[in-house]
Amino acid sequence: AAISLPEIPSEALRKAAASQEPEIITRQVPAGELIQAIVPVQSKEPNKTFLVTTLLIPAEKLALMQSVSKGITDYKQLVMLKAPIKLSMIIMLLIITLLILFGAIWFGFFIARSMTASINKLAEGTQRVAGGDLDFTIEKESDDEMGLLVDSFNSMTSDLLKSNRELAETHKALQQSNLISEQRRRYLETILKNVAAGVIAINEHNEVTTINPFAEKLLKIDTENFLHKDFHKALPLSHVAVIESFFTDLLASGKRSIERHLNLTVRKGETYSLLVNITRLIDEQGRSIGYVIVFDNLTKLEKAQRLAAWQEVARRIAHEIKNPLTPIQLSAQRLRKRYLTTIKNDREIFEQCTGTIISQVDEIKRLVTEFSDFARMPRVKKQQADIVAIAADTLVLYREGHKHISFTLEHDEVPLFTFDPIQIKRVLINLLDNAVSVLAHGGSVSTEIRLYRDEDAVKIIVRDDGTGMSEQVRQRLFEPYFSTRKSGTGLGLAIANTIITEHNGVIKVHDHVPSGTVFTIELPFHSVKTTSS
Ligand SMILES: Nc1ncnc2c1ncn2[C@@H]1O[C@H](COP(=O)(O)OP(=O)(O)O)[C@@H](O)[C@H]1O
Ligand SMILES: [Mg+2]
Repeated sequence: AAISLPEIPSEALRKAAASQEPEIITRQVPAGELIQAIVPVQSKEPNKTFLVTTLLIPAEKLALMQSVSKGITDYKQLVMLKAPIKLSMIIMLLIITLLILFGAIWFGFFIARSMTASINKLAEGTQRVAGGDLDFTIEKESDDEMGLLVDSFNSMTSDLLKSNRELAETHKALQQSNLISEQRRRYLETILKNVAAGVIAINEHNEVTTINPFAEKLLKIDTENFLHKDFHKALPLSHVAVIESFFTDLLASGKRSIERHLNLTVRKGETYSLLVNITRLIDEQGRSIGYVIVFDNLTKLEKAQRLAAWQEVARRIAHEIKNPLTPIQLSAQRLRKRYLTTIKNDREIFEQCTGTIISQVDEIKRLVTEFSDFARMPRVKKQQADIVAIAADTLVLYREGHKHISFTLEHDEVPLFTFDPIQIKRVLINLLDNAVSVLAHGGSVSTEIRLYRDEDAVKIIVRDDGTGMSEQVRQRLFEPYFSTRKSGTGLGLAIANTIITEHNGVIKVHDHVPSGTVFTIELPFHSVKTTSS
């Protein structure tokens, strides 16, 4: 195809003329690219001639070539930039990786923190619960498992609080009832301690569960060896037999309790008259849970009753007999005076008989006086007195009257104290009389007066080395009208006992080794308080 060539620029011609090399120019034409090489041709003409070769590269080929050439340059560029790009890529990747890593860690921490916050609260809660503080709740922040946990924790603490309160209330109620039962127990114990009756409880296994001080003292029991032991083993055989017989009687009677009168010898010489009541203990279910034995010491009461009865008898006898005695005696004396000189027959008999009447009436009078003394024993009149002086005075009389017996007196320094000197002297006389009466063939009577300040007691001890006495006599010694002597009234020791009892003292009797008897009187000693001004 024909194309019109554009004019060759003069500039290019000049360059071609100036250089030895062909000048190559490229230009864009609508059909493609025009490449022209300009070479000057040697000639003599002034106007220069140029050889121009033209190559037209059509537009499509040109584009292809351009893209190839661009591809090559690009490739070359790329080859050149390969290392830095790789480096930057690696750096970028690293940064992204780190970012992701940090993000993940942060996210992890975030989630962990939101979780540990609840867990921390729970932990704190558990600690407070452990510390005993139940009155609090943890706020619920989510509805997930954590929330469920918090919910259960809260319900747990509230349950705990509730049961704790209930427990505290029950505890309080229990304490209250404990207190009440403790008070009741103490009250009962106090009653048992102070009741003037012996109380012994035995359970269904025959073990002694309770024994009160009264019983302890009266039966002279050592509670330690007695409590919680089978009474068969703890008690002397005689007592066991008595209790067993009570049990048999009780079971045979079919009743819940029986009462018996019992004379119990506790120790040699000490017999008590007891009123014993045995009751079977039965619980709510009607089962037998043992026995309770209650006993009253009637000894003193009986003695007092007997004494009162005898005093009444003595008063009446004295009253009835005393009145006629004096006229009898007077009559006998008058008969004697009047007829002794006039009677011729049997004058001696007359004299003897009237004499006997007079002297026997005297004897009866003496007895009656003793009776009435006993019946109307004067009230004790206590005063400050010297017991040693009184004993010494009394002994003087006896030493005079009974030369074949030796009387001795040993004593502590006893200050004045309060007692009835006349009556105590009477007691001493009664004891010395008895001693003398068992020493018909001589012997010795020793009297001792001792002061026991710790016990606030003065003891008067009268010993003789006479015949002594049998167990039967010893038991009845202090009874009125009990006497083993022909001419005895049996009132001496009864009177002595009454007097000593009225002084709040005791009189006891023991055997004297090797032979004889010892009487011991114990009087309460209240020393005179010397008031210093
Ligand atoms: N020292 C003694 N030795 C032996 N027996 C005694 C002694 N004292 C008293 N008795 C006994 O006690 C009994 C009672 O004494 P008591 O009451 O004085 O009455 P009585 O002297 O009138 O017999 C006496 O009969 C005697 O059997
Ligand atoms: Mg006597």
